[in-house]
Amino acid sequence: VGLKRLVVLASGRGSNLQAILDACSDGKLPAEVVGVVSDHAQAGALDKARRAGVPAVALEKFGTRAEYDAVLADRVAQLGPDLIVLAGWMRILSMNFLGRFPGQVLNLHPALPGTFPGVRAIERAWTAYQAGEIGETGCMVHWVPDEGVDVGPVIRQQVVPIFPSDDLASLGRRMHATEHALLVEALQQLCTEKVVS
Ligand code: GAR
Repeated sequence: VGLKRLVVLASGRGSNLQAILDACSDGKLPAEVVGVVSDHAQAGALDKARRAGVPAVALEKFGTRAEYDAVLADRVAQLGPDLIVLAGWMRILSMNFLGRFPGQVLNLHPALPGTFPGVRAIERAWTAYQAGEIGETGCMVHWVPDEGVDVGPVIRQQVVPIFPSDDLASLGRRMHATEHALLVEALQQLCTEKVVS
């Protein structure tokens, strides 16, 4: 069985991309990252890709969403992915993109299903905790079937506790460590699943 081909889309720092790259190079994940695309030319994720010898593509915002997504889909399709991982990808993808890769796109989000979709989820969970509205938060990896934001069939989720001694920074560190592990576990599951004929 060959290695699964992963394309990672990342808008930011790329710490989750790095977790994937490390798992691949450590032999913990039977996959290879065949390309990284960012919508920000300065994204740390592109540096992390280059340092790992992975093709890094910057595709900054242009035109209409439909036009952007069509070009993005072409660039990604050229890389021949088995799976497309949204690891801190902060642009909503339309069906112009998603329709080209049915059942292949997964997203990482730093909240539990049905909670805090969109941006700054960790910060919003922290505020809700301080207001006594929640006692814990979490993160999830889910399929992206359509244009819904941070919603779709859950592949894996993990509760993350919040402690009275926390501040936003300590919660953020716990969240990110949990995400790195959860994303690799989800990919291990998907990359080793046997095809049943
Ligand atoms: C992660 O916390 C990820 O869950 C989040 O962006 C961060 C990227 O960090 N994604 C979303 O909020 C999606 N709505 P990274 O660039 O260090 O991997």
